[in-house]
Amino acid sequence: MAKLAFSGLKDFLLFAIVCVLALSSSVSARPATFLQDFQVTWSDSHIRQLDGGRAIQLVLDQTSGCGFASKYKYLFGRVSIKIKLVPGDSAGTVTAFYMNSDTESIRDELDFEFLGNRTGQPYTVQTNVYAHGKGDREQRINLWFDPSAEFHTYTIMWNHRHVVFSVDEVPIRVYKNNEAKGIPYPKFQPMGVFSTLWEADDWATRGGLEKIDWSKAPFYAYYKDFDIEGCPVPGPQNCASNVNNWWERTAYQVLSPVEARRYRWVRMNHMIYDYCTDKSRYPVTPPECVAGI
Ligand SMILES: *[C@@H]1O[C@H](CO)[C@@H](O)[C@H](O)[C@H]1NC(C)=O
Repeated sequence: MAKLAFSGLKDFLLFAIVCVLALSSSVSARPATFLQDFQVTWSDSHIRQLDGGRAIQLVLDQTSGCGFASKYKYLFGRVSIKIKLVPGDSAGTVTAFYMNSDTESIRDELDFEFLGNRTGQPYTVQTNVYAHGKGDREQRINLWFDPSAEFHTYTIMWNHRHVVFSVDEVPIRVYKNNEAKGIPYPKFQPMGVFSTLWEADDWATRGGLEKIDWSKAPFYAYYKDFDIEGCPVPGPQNCASNVNNWWERTAYQVLSPVEARRYRWVRMNHMIYDYCTDKSRYPVTPPECVAGI
């Protein structure tokens, strides 16, 4: 009886500890409000806060598109946002969500670009990676769902080992750190988080084949659950090199078997363009493509 009571107490203490831990982690947990981490950078009148600032509406009309950026830059970490893209006839609209070092000559950049389409035709998601000033690494996929019907989570995960672009829990692109093979990797410059909604029917619709239909304007995209976890710059010294940051841990250094399987599935079934296999652009396969995905 006494023994039972003791183990009951022990259980209770364990339970209490778990509760305290859960509570303390939820104190710092996100999602945050828009203005906590971001500011409007282009056309205030075209970004409306909703739900007490926990969500926003981006507007594109014939007078302007709009954009926002994080207040800080970050060196390694993970950014994720839930986005509901422009519905219906969205051809010629481009919604971008990206990280960028905001430096001209030796730019580092990690891009998600959502290219709208005619009603009923699939959105194209283009990704690109700039490392040490060199980009031209476009890949394109079609999504396996209608991204304008519901919110979906778009994530850029960036650590010392690789960059992973994910849609919901599905990796759609991996750029590995192959510095050992002389391949540039974004590692030295902090990057800000940016997003824009604008019109680009000169290139975004299969080279300008389709024009934006302004009679359908204004176009709206919605964002919520802003989540940036990373080392802010300026911020704590040595944060970026701290191997104890959760995004540097073993579990995030390579894709898990489940993630690897999903990634193969996307490449097999949804990839519509890969610069790695574009022989007309690259008669010699770029080294990072040879080094393995
Ligand atoms: C739009 O749909 C067409 C036809 O399904 C497809 O070929 C194209 O890749 C889609 N995306 C864009 C941006 O045009």
